[in-house]
Amino acid sequence: MTLMGVVYYPEHWERAMWENDAELMARTGVRVVRLAEFAWSLLEPKEGVYDFAWLDEAIELFHRQGIQVVLGTPTCTPPNWLTERYPDVLPVDVHLKTRQAGVRGHRCYNSPSMRRFSATIVRKMAERYAAHPAVIGWQIDNEFGLNECCCPHCEARFREWAKDKYGSLEALNRAWGTVVWSGTYSEWEQIKPPLGGTAFKNPSYLLDWKRFETDAVVAFQQLQLDVLRETCPGHFVTHNIWSYPMALDYYRLCAPLDFASLDYYPNTSLEKAGTSGYGGALTLDLARGIKRRGFWIMETISGPPGCWFPMWRTPQPGFIRAFAWQCIARGAEAVVHFQWRSAPVGAEQFWHGLIDHSNVPGRRYEEYAGLCEEVNRLSGTLDGSEVAGEAAILHSHELYNAFQIQPQAEGMDYFDNLKLYHRALTKLGILTDAVNAAEDLSGYRLIVAPSLYLLDEERAKHLEDCARNGATVILTNRTGVKNDNNVCWIRPLPGPLAEAAGVTVSEYDPIGGELHAMVDKQGNSYACSQWCDILTPAGAEPIAWYDDDFFAGQPAVTVRKLGKGRVVYIGTVAEERYYIELFRELADEIGLTRLDGLPEGVQISVRRKGQTRYLFVLNLSRKRQEVSLGGTFASVLTESRVGPALTLEPYGVEIVEWIE
Ligand code: GLA
Ligand code: ZN
Repeated sequence: MTLMGVVYYPEHWERAMWENDAELMARTGVRVVRLAEFAWSLLEPKEGVYDFAWLDEAIELFHRQGIQVVLGTPTCTPPNWLTERYPDVLPVDVHLKTRQAGVRGHRCYNSPSMRRFSATIVRKMAERYAAHPAVIGWQIDNEFGLNECCCPHCEARFREWAKDKYGSLEALNRAWGTVVWSGTYSEWEQIKPPLGGTAFKNPSYLLDWKRFETDAVVAFQQLQLDVLRETCPGHFVTHNIWSYPMALDYYRLCAPLDFASLDYYPNTSLEKAGTSGYGGALTLDLARGIKRRGFWIMETISGPPGCWFPMWRTPQPGFIRAFAWQCIARGAEAVVHFQWRSAPVGAEQFWHGLIDHSNVPGRRYEEYAGLCEEVNRLSGTLDGSEVAGEAAILHSHELYNAFQIQPQAEGMDYFDNLKLYHRALTKLGILTDAVNAAEDLSGYRLIVAPSLYLLDEERAKHLEDCARNGATVILTNRTGVKNDNNVCWIRPLPGPLAEAAGVTVSEYDPIGGELHAMVDKQGNSYACSQWCDILTPAGAEPIAWYDDDFFAGQPAVTVRKLGKGRVVYIGTVAEERYYIELFRELADEIGLTRLDGLPEGVQISVRRKGQTRYLFVLNLSRKRQEVSLGGTFASVLTESRVGPALTLEPYGVEIVEWIE
């Protein structure tokens, strides 16, 4: 089932409006609503005093309309009575100032009071709705992030965490290399939060602090999860992650959940119109990669976003529909729009809903209604189909954090580079899974592994095995630099992968924003920037060379055949055109499935069900585009035959049963 849903806040509206809203939702084809994730002050207006009557009534209304309910636990918004009476709930920032209530997210994950009251409100809600036939699952909290809390509870927990990890101060001092600048700890009490950290602080300590912070969120979530698992064994439990890049480790966060959910707000502005669809494709592939299965979109765009910034453009005609299909094409099992109607009150009045404040359903609502009709009609067809790429791109929050702690060169951004490689794959029509760099990668035929900066022998061995077994493994600059403690290897780069890659880095130059030149075997010239590894092949064959500066003529890219596969090493960051050429050649050599000749802004994805493949062709641009399908196919949207040339209107969508 692909479920269409909306976010709804009964607490923002007069009761008299609820029934009409529920009734119109049902007529529109809405199958699920998310409720209550910020409603703590209504559910527990005073300490120990609970009021569920309003929520009972709202759930009942939806139930009567045949709409299912996902409940949010309200722990992102501790009410005023709680923060007043139990001030340890409030986080302490890096300037040691207590954060004030009045916005949201004002809660310390390690606060004993926060933990106690959270467990209780979640239990009360869970007990009340465990058996309600409309309630199908839970979202814990809202868009968790690291809150860098420096309160005494977090400080104490961090020490415990370090004790658990290292056992002794000697081991910790050794692992972190505290000998530098006389940083040796002689008592556990000397270990404190980094108060924001600076580039002058010890990078091993800073990275461990990030890991500790993730663990604090995971433990806070687990407290709620335990209650929900015990009380509502029949319900799913998820969390709505915010986007990427992210310091909080989503892989660890989502491991105990049933599936991941993503809040997805593609950019509507004209200048981003060309790129946001590609960034979005990566975000969706990452969301599918978290648990390597389908996921939910728990929030997505319904109108002009704004509030934290001046409003963006309103979604162009077709935008809401096309981006919802992009989610489904890349693995979403439900798409929940944020929100039903623009809020009349509060800070998000201008983060628009499907229906405007006027309460007159307009163009965007009509488009959404059409989308619901389509998705509901196709839900049976797509039911049970799955997205699975033959290529993988590796991602890691750990690497992101390590590069945040120590930026390597002007303009070198771990996540932007990931986007660059993924965009090239997407433009080539290669369906790619974006997966955790720490996972089992067997089975993938093309593996793009950007900057595996922290790398141990075991992981290197796994990648080497993948290559030996037939994969094309693509490594880039800043691979194999450090061990897991964020300490440099004393060996030639790319460290534990040097042998497999058949190449070493004899010297490097962090060229940053300067544009340099490189040339490939065919004599084509490309710009490169950020970084130049000057390579000495030891078994690998050069396939591109630098073309200027003191390293002109030295290898920039090499390939080494290894067992049934090969390892490619790219020592620099080139312009997009280079990756398109290189990946095309590599993919075609190994016969990867792809669709050639996609115009700018047009994306494809494939969902497989048994022998059947559904090819999604999405025009995420403002221009009419023509795509060559290479044959005629049955459209599952219109039940007509389409192709070989397919014309897509701006934000046009086609889905065909595809036989390659
Ligand atoms: C986030 C939050 C929502 C809302 C939207 C719009 O994704 O989860 O509560 O604030 O953004 O700003
Ligand atoms: Zn704290």
